[in-house]
Amino acid sequence: MRSSILLLPGDGIGPEVVAAAASILRAVASRFGHQFDLPEAAIGGAALRRGLPPLPDEALAAARESSAILLGAVGDPAFDKGDSSRRPETALLAVRRELQLYANFRPARVWPGLEDSGPLKQSVVAGTDMLVLRELTGGLYYGEPRGIAADGASAHNTMRYSRHEIERIARRGFEAARTRRKHVMSVDKANVLETSRLWRQVVTNLAAEYPDVTVDHMYVDSCAMKIALAPASFDVILTENLFGDILSDEAGAIVGSLGLLPSASLGDGPGLFEPVHGSAPDIAGRNIANPIGAIGSVAMLLRHALALETEARAVEDAIGSVLRRGVRTADLVDRSEQRVGTREMAAEIEAALLAPAAAPRA
Ligand code: IPM
Ligand code: MN
Repeated sequence: MRSSILLLPGDGIGPEVVAAAASILRAVASRFGHQFDLPEAAIGGAALRRGLPPLPDEALAAARESSAILLGAVGDPAFDKGDSSRRPETALLAVRRELQLYANFRPARVWPGLEDSGPLKQSVVAGTDMLVLRELTGGLYYGEPRGIAADGASAHNTMRYSRHEIERIARRGFEAARTRRKHVMSVDKANVLETSRLWRQVVTNLAAEYPDVTVDHMYVDSCAMKIALAPASFDVILTENLFGDILSDEAGAIVGSLGLLPSASLGDGPGLFEPVHGSAPDIAGRNIANPIGAIGSVAMLLRHALALETEARAVEDAIGSVLRRGVRTADLVDRSEQRVGTREMAAEIEAALLAPAAAPRA
């Protein structure tokens, strides 16, 4: 297969983890006989530093033309004081909106060997395998009106959801559940918010079309608590934009490190794949970032954008075999394990991918 995958490294640790992920894409191409073109474009702080807007037109045009997009991270403290037209994050929010990437899949599971890496007791975290499905183009992130009053004395945002927006993400949730353990936990704040009452109503109505899937509803505060108390009880968590942003960071922490989490943002056109972690400016450029979130995003890209399931599994197996051998980046290391940097971790995963049988077993 020949396809073009646009690389958007962005800011902070973004370029390091995208370089790692690109090496895995090249290894997949060589093992399975594909040809991947990997053009690159600057967005976020990287674009602002060149005097360009956060999302230059050429980058958006290239994104529209590609088979898939692999993004590192955006966010740069040098631009924190700017208004939204000069903030790196604007690039990501604009790509999501322009490509209508309304469905954000954030799977969080405990990798064998990492049961001890997170803050929870091994007995609590064992068996955790959830999918946070986050609505990505609506809610408070995009609702109008929004702004700061001229006198600076107040500010406002708008949370708005249409039936259509809720229904299309809920459908993705039911369909994802069918490929998993057939349970959807719809998360809202229906005791307070009208948008949440509509959310609950639409999800409940749609459930009739998926009799093989069980649905429950939970308030977001209670869900946040239950993720910490009984993470293994969740299958698909279906929720709106801001709640999903918050709960997916929590899910990352409990499975060992946010650096492990991959994501896929899908709409009707090309999908965008990125690690859930941010730009982490404090550790940027030091070869210590965990590339597994980005490499796991490569697996999701192969699966969801290119329909290459065997290749996707090969990447996930390679990650699993390296972790089983005790190879760890700084965010995961506890005692006796072998501590490696970003490039070394990527090289280990690449070696396991290229020589699966030869890779040493735990
Ligand atoms: C994420 C990030 C983004 C978000 C930021 C960088 C705009 O936190 O993808 O979770 O809030 O959606
Ligand atoms: Mn986030």
